[in-house]
Amino acid sequence: MARRASVFICQQCGASHPRWSGRCDACGAWNSIVEEAPAEAPPKGLTPGKGRPADLVDLAGAPLATARQASGISEFDRVTGGGLVPGSAILIGGDPGIGKSTLVLQVAAALAPKMACVYVSGEEAVDQVRLRAARLGLAEADVKLAAITDVRDVLATLSGIAPPALVVVDSIQTMYVDDLDSAPGSVAQLRAASQALIRFAKRGGATVVLVGHVTKEGLIAGPRVLEHMVDTVLYFEGDRGHQFRILRAVKNRFGATDEIGVFEMTGAGLAEVANPSALFLADRRGEVSGAAVFAGIEGSRPVLVEIQALCAPSALATPRRAVVGWDSGRLAMVIAVLEARCGLALRGYDVYLNVAGGLRIGEPAADLAVAAALVSARLERPAPADAVLFGEIGLSGEVRAVGQAEARMKEAAKLGFAQAWGPPPPGGAKGAKGADATAGLAVTRIAHLADLVAMFRDGAD
Ligand code: TYD
Ligand code: MG
Repeated sequence: MARRASVFICQQCGASHPRWSGRCDACGAWNSIVEEAPAEAPPKGLTPGKGRPADLVDLAGAPLATARQASGISEFDRVTGGGLVPGSAILIGGDPGIGKSTLVLQVAAALAPKMACVYVSGEEAVDQVRLRAARLGLAEADVKLAAITDVRDVLATLSGIAPPALVVVDSIQTMYVDDLDSAPGSVAQLRAASQALIRFAKRGGATVVLVGHVTKEGLIAGPRVLEHMVDTVLYFEGDRGHQFRILRAVKNRFGATDEIGVFEMTGAGLAEVANPSALFLADRRGEVSGAAVFAGIEGSRPVLVEIQALCAPSALATPRRAVVGWDSGRLAMVIAVLEARCGLALRGYDVYLNVAGGLRIGEPAADLAVAAALVSARLERPAPADAVLFGEIGLSGEVRAVGQAEARMKEAAKLGFAQAWGPPPPGGAKGAKGADATAGLAVTRIAHLADLVAMFRDGAD
């Protein structure tokens, strides 16, 4: 087969160039041009009558029953929206060494009694995967294994057997399509290999799970190319120093995207954590300054987590603001509000903020807990150890109501907390303190951030 010349496509604007260059002439983006395989035969003569007409249907109608296959690993099933959907493609991304291979092997083994599962390893030899299976106590599971890196061989293998229902490809970066010049792992290869595997999934009704490594920028290699192609994108995150691992859906055509699954890496693989709050609060040291417990919601589940802050006098002209597990822009805002609206000087201080346990929080509802940790650290006055906090902070310093207050407080009560500090209820100022004892907690309503600072100044509680 004569090889057609490659084309070079800007990944930002889609402009096509005859050769590579560092900057796209069309949109001015740098380093966005990537070699791609030419499109299969250019569409010649798009005359009516050539295509196959499709059935046009009404919007109303019974949905196709999507028979989901639940793995029984409930933390995984929750994140996928109830189990694997036949004919879909899932991408699982994460740092090297975080436990992706372990997770997919455990999922495949859990599903093996119900459906035919194939595990294609491009990274490890068969023996290595077997060793891991033995370590996980899964050596007896009926998962078929092959070490292949050529996509053509993968497809030949899969079409030579009874159609599998689950195909795991670990990892997509090691797969290559041999009629493409670019190296394995390049965007063109990633795209071509994924396309071929996803097409296989859609045609045969299999679920394809692609494992992908995350690059330093935190994206799966190739500017989100893969994320657009698959139905579901899951990130497996966590700190390798911690044993917690969090599986998070960032895209899901078949379910909610804000769900998390929490696992613990043990000597025998990943164990489910049914009660993450207890885990995240396990290392608390009681009443110390610079710590506050945030009553958060992750997906459909309340999760309590400790927020820690440290304020240290700075020798730098521009003090440091370091944050782990939260948005640094949001931290800057809370600091600015504390300074401008509450008269709390943080200018000469380095500020460090950490969400304990390696969880990453995206909710603005964490503002109040972050502010409390900062105020507590700065004034060196502890917050009461039996209090949880939640509430969003506005630029004028007002504390705003957030959703699911009840669920947050119920979880706190369940874990033995006695009080909650939160925003005034929406649509009416109630008495300041202890007005409603929702879920058995004494609730302190904080209308303005200055009130919180005053509570710490007066000797909190
Ligand atoms: P792995 O699944 O190979 O990570 P990835 O595929 O994301 O690169 O897991 C790597 C780490 O997990 C490795 O450092 C060892 C650790 N591990 C355990 O602690 N317990 C286990 O049972 C297994 C299989 C791995
Ligand atoms: Mg791996």
